[in-house]
Amino acid sequence: MDNTANEKHFEERIRAGEVIEPKDWMPERYRKQLVRMMSQHAHSEIIGMLPEGNWITRAPSLRRKMILLAKVQDEGGHGLYIYSGTETLGVKREDLLQDLLDGKAKYSNIFNYPTLSWADMGTIGWFVDGAAIINQTTLAKCSYGPYSRAMIRICKEENFHKKQGFEIMATLAAGTPEQRAMAQDAVNRWWWPSLMMLGPSDKDSPNTAELSLWGVKRKSNDELRQRFVDMTVPQAQAIGLTLPDPDLKFNEQTGHWEHGPINWDEFFAVIKGNGPCNRERLGAKRKAHEQGAWVREAAAAYARKHSEPSKAAA
Ligand code: 3HC
Repeated sequence: MDNTANEKHFEERIRAGEVIEPKDWMPERYRKQLVRMMSQHAHSEIIGMLPEGNWITRAPSLRRKMILLAKVQDEGGHGLYIYSGTETLGVKREDLLQDLLDGKAKYSNIFNYPTLSWADMGTIGWFVDGAAIINQTTLAKCSYGPYSRAMIRICKEENFHKKQGFEIMATLAAGTPEQRAMAQDAVNRWWWPSLMMLGPSDKDSPNTAELSLWGVKRKSNDELRQRFVDMTVPQAQAIGLTLPDPDLKFNEQTGHWEHGPINWDEFFAVIKGNGPCNRERLGAKRKAHEQGAWVREAAAAYARKHSEPSKAAA
């Protein structure tokens, strides 16, 4: 079939809700968009280990330490899983990682903020993983098979991540005045960056229209954000914490919580590399990569040794 016929057939498959697999014909632009989105997602999972990893040795109990350790390990696994999905599109993981190390690749804005107290661990689980679940449950229905299947598996673990975070916050909010103040301070610092995490407003989103047409994005950024706000406001009320938005109000007509204006200048500054922790995060990632060189060399040597046909068998 020539490309026009291929494109026509591809669009018919998308309209019919079919799942596109790696060996299927796909427009180059569809492939490129998936590589962009999936690699950034994978980078986000890996970089996302850093802010939480800082608190593993400072967890307030053995139980909290074990939970946080499990969560950080999960995030690493999510990253590797999504890199594997990205590789089905004909790109090399090493190249994606090099782009990240060279500062050429995006990852989620949210991981460029400092984690100043134990309550930040709770707020990350509650807000960041909560927003991620909302986003990833829609991506579990995306048109590209490997990505949607990865999301199904990842969402199961994200639910644990969110629940453990909310439990930390509920515990602190019901604790001493100092603990309650710690929780409220973390909410104040993480609320707005978490709303930004779901992407710029739809009118400023150059990728949403195309990704929606191809069944990759099932909800727009603003729809995802609205879902997150509607879900989170009652949770904050339930544990007596205040979201830092004086304009937050419930609209009886629409049944949605309306939030105040988002500081998009901050968002674009952070994703351009000028957030509070961008340099620190990339520096830590580069250091870990350098220090891990011996592991990669040993694994490669082992693979070479065990892939050459053995002399005896020859
Ligand atoms: N952080 C950094 N960059 C962002 C961003 C964010 N939160 N949101 C958008 N951007 C970038 C986009 O990458 C795009 O830049 P590019 O064209 O150079 O790539 C630009 O801002 C315009 O944004 P668009 O809305 O046009 O981009 P998308 O259509 O790709 O939508 C998205 C953005 C909703 C984040 C979408 O990419 C997406 O759903 N990605 C998959 C999920 C994901 O990456 N989540 C990241 C968090 S991972 C996580 O939470 C881990 C959990 O375990 C804690």
